[in-house]
Amino acid sequence: MTIAIGCDHAGIELKREIVSLLQELRIECLDYGTDTPQSVDYPDFGEKVSKDVSSGKVERGILICGTGIGMSIVANKFPGVRASLCNELFTAKMSRLHNDANILVLGGRIVGRDLAKEIVRIWVSTPFEGERHAKRLQKITFIERRIRDNGV
Ligand code: RB5
Repeated sequence: MTIAIGCDHAGIELKREIVSLLQELRIECLDYGTDTPQSVDYPDFGEKVSKDVSSGKVERGILICGTGIGMSIVANKFPGVRASLCNELFTAKMSRLHNDANILVLGGRIVGRDLAKEIVRIWVSTPFEGERHAKRLQKITFIERRIRDNGV
């Protein structure tokens, strides 16, 4: 599995921690920055990661901004992206089991380092349950295609 990762200035410390965790877990990581505390716009970095997930270049993505809200909004514009804002362990687990989330979003100003690392550990190792949940995801795909072809 390859994971693309990106953040804005509010997520640089957490991103650094997560990149080393992924290395420790021997998970290939594509790091799109940002890497400096200079203020940047989260859509620019959200787009890079979401594009890779949407196109199938990578299997998963991780995005970090201050709250995680802005990155979630951006990521979920991309076809096939199921981005979940998980600032605690339960939603991290459920986002994989029930939603087959392919982008994990974290709030760099909300979660501490150790909690964030635990969230990532759970998120990368929890499988999708499938069955009734797969049918629901299929419905999301149909909605996406309908909007693409006919508008809202
Ligand atoms: C940047 O100050 C902040 O707005 C951004 O990191 C994020 O929280 C947006 O949702």
